[in-house]
Amino acid sequence: MIQINENYTKLQASYLFVEIARKVAEFQKNHPEKDIIKMGIGDVTKPLPEACLKAFHDGVDELASEASFKGYGPEKGYEFLRQAIAENDFQSRGVSITANDIFVSDGAKCDTGNFQELFSTSASIAIPDPVYPVYVDTNVMAGRSGKAMGARYEGFNYLEGSEENGFVPGPKGVKADLIYLCYPNNPTGAVASRAQLQEWVDYAIANKALILFDAAYEAFIRDPEIPHSIFEIPGAEKVAVEFRSFSKTAGFTGTRCAYTVVPSACIVWDSEGNEYSLQNLWNRRHSTKFNGVSYPVQKAAAAIYSEEGKIQVRGLIDYYLNNASIILKKMKEAGYSCTGGVNSPYIWVNTGKDSWETFDMILNKAAVVLTPGSGFGQCGEGYIRISAFNSLENVMQAMDRITQALKN
Ligand code: MLT
Repeated sequence: MIQINENYTKLQASYLFVEIARKVAEFQKNHPEKDIIKMGIGDVTKPLPEACLKAFHDGVDELASEASFKGYGPEKGYEFLRQAIAENDFQSRGVSITANDIFVSDGAKCDTGNFQELFSTSASIAIPDPVYPVYVDTNVMAGRSGKAMGARYEGFNYLEGSEENGFVPGPKGVKADLIYLCYPNNPTGAVASRAQLQEWVDYAIANKALILFDAAYEAFIRDPEIPHSIFEIPGAEKVAVEFRSFSKTAGFTGTRCAYTVVPSACIVWDSEGNEYSLQNLWNRRHSTKFNGVSYPVQKAAAAIYSEEGKIQVRGLIDYYLNNASIILKKMKEAGYSCTGGVNSPYIWVNTGKDSWETFDMILNKAAVVLTPGSGFGQCGEGYIRISAFNSLENVMQAMDRITQALKN
């Protein structure tokens, strides 16, 4: 008899965004006349930047002749892309990350979900609440939790976010080996200061812990005081891994390309205290289970770092940031306390009412899709998340509809 991994039975029936998609499809079926505006899942709506499209086409053309055809590429990604990433995203900020530390992949969702495989099932996990559900669910699947207890799982250390701590919980009182952090934060849009990140790095060094830092929304940072990378924090290269994505940066949600930075200085241990290079371990895992991102996609990603690519990407992000500022302004004018919307494409709104009820009410009355805060954890109850990824016209219309629906 083939037996299942029973850790899966602890999970809620479906992934948050799958459940939302199901509800939206049902609503659309019952109301085919409704023009639904989607501001739920953070999925980009603008096309790929011109520079990326051109490089993408060129990459495909190269596959058309034997002389330039590419078969399997390097599992870690082509050198031209890893070099461009190291120079532009790190060395230009004075951070000594090299191309060798970079692992190109098909998404930060997969990498943040897969990275925990490297660690013991007895590793204690610190997870923010509210949080991107992938960190929680993948650790449940791996057997690091006890059973579900309402919106939580036994055995995890929850880092509680609140308006009091600005949704940037610190390490005080935490006991953990593996710490998940995400800034600019999904779902709250909060950003962490240098001092706040330094506290976590100091904690990790003192406790031989590891920080998994999700920086998928880094490109939205406009405040010069806010660090773009955990590796801008002294000591972080010994105790942190960083996940980046081209999805929200340059419209690659469907195209798929991301990368993970595992510095050569990062050391982890076995149960007897022997040291291991985390980079070697991840390389072992990555090269065994992954065969690389397609060549044209990597060409398209590298074009982000060309002169015209940088200008076009900045234009894209500015567009969504303008949407975010409109959403933030409208929700504040309507009297709601909000987080994010600046240095972030997400606006986290305290409605003070049951999150799923608010989601259903806005869907039914306004035909707008949001994300219920409680889907991101217990501390998200009473909140909704609004995504700025849509056209300006849709955002303006959605805000009129949402504010009207919330009034009644
Ligand atoms: C979100 O809406 O939270 C993100 O789009 C999910 C993801 O990036 O996987």
